[in-house]
Amino acid sequence: KSEDEIVNITYVTRDGTEKKIKGKVGDNVMYLAHRYDIEVEGACEASLACCTCHVYVDEEYFDKLPEPKEEEEDMLDLAPVLKPNSRLSCQIILTKELEGIKVTLPRITRNFYVDGHVPEPH
Ligand code: FES
Repeated sequence: KSEDEIVNITYVTRDGTEKKIKGKVGDNVMYLAHRYDIEVEGACEASLACCTCHVYVDEEYFDKLPEPKEEEEDMLDLAPVLKPNSRLSCQIILTKELEGIKVTLPRITRNFYVDGHVPEPH
């Protein structure tokens, strides 16, 4: 593979660890995470029927992403702890422009609620 296909991406995992991965142009940010055992969920396999692949995209890269589809907006509305820079990672495809992109996993996703993994507030 030629060097210019490489797109560096950093995932900040739930415990705050930065995982630097070499992806390539055309990679799907959710599936790429799965390939490296990063705990991005993807309950609906990228069919825009869940919000478990929710991530926060660093501002400078957020603006470079194509506008979300309406379906993505609808699903994001269901995501816990929505922020202005929230996106669904299964809808982010790496391009050269996104070189150095950083995405942060939210502390909780919908499935954590459903499965009761959210610690009780004290
Ligand atoms: Fe369900 Fe991304 S995996 S919307």
